[in-house]
Amino acid sequence: MGTSSDHKYEEAREVLAEFGVELERLSIDRVEIQADDPELIAEYSLKVLDVDIPILIEDAGLYIDKYYGFPGPYSSYALRTIDNEGILKLMEGETERGARYLSAVAFRDGDTSVTFTGEVGGRIAEEMRGTNGFGYDPIFMPEEGDGRTFGEMSAVEKARISHRARAFRKLGEWLEAD
Ligand code: IMP
Repeated sequence: MGTSSDHKYEEAREVLAEFGVELERLSIDRVEIQADDPELIAEYSLKVLDVDIPILIEDAGLYIDKYYGFPGPYSSYALRTIDNEGILKLMEGETERGARYLSAVAFRDGDTSVTFTGEVGGRIAEEMRGTNGFGYDPIFMPEEGDGRTFGEMSAVEKARISHRARAFRKLGEWLEAD
């Protein structure tokens, strides 16, 4: 299975490879500020990173409409604590189940900095389904799908519509045009 960052890295690497861009992973601690918006979080982490190579940072989260975007920026904390079972409990008996994944990729090369975002809308499932993907994937049903959760989709299917694939595709297109 691997960790959530293994999955994130693999998803990002595959999208950028479509644009002939190679991604290499660095193991460095990043400063993560508290903000509602993944764009601000990724941009700040990148700004304070003193590394002189072309570099990017992605920040992502699950935003549940009914709970004003919670867990949002607390997505990894909520997974570590209440986990998917806790989210399902919060949503028990709830008919308003809309949610979205957001991803922001902040990229810097020398003096140039850009940020791209990606989003996928969907619904929180009634129960966990599927063992693919990671994190909230077993409880997230994208609206562009056929009712399966991301956990029930292959990596290729998820990459067609995922928030992360969308943000990284924008970066790939930008790098290609550059
Ligand atoms: P991060 O802060 O960008 O590493 O992500 C926040 C949390 O959201 C992590 O704990 C991830 O597990 C979860 N998350 C982000 N993207 C996805 C996804 O594509 N699928 C499932 N969970 C995700």
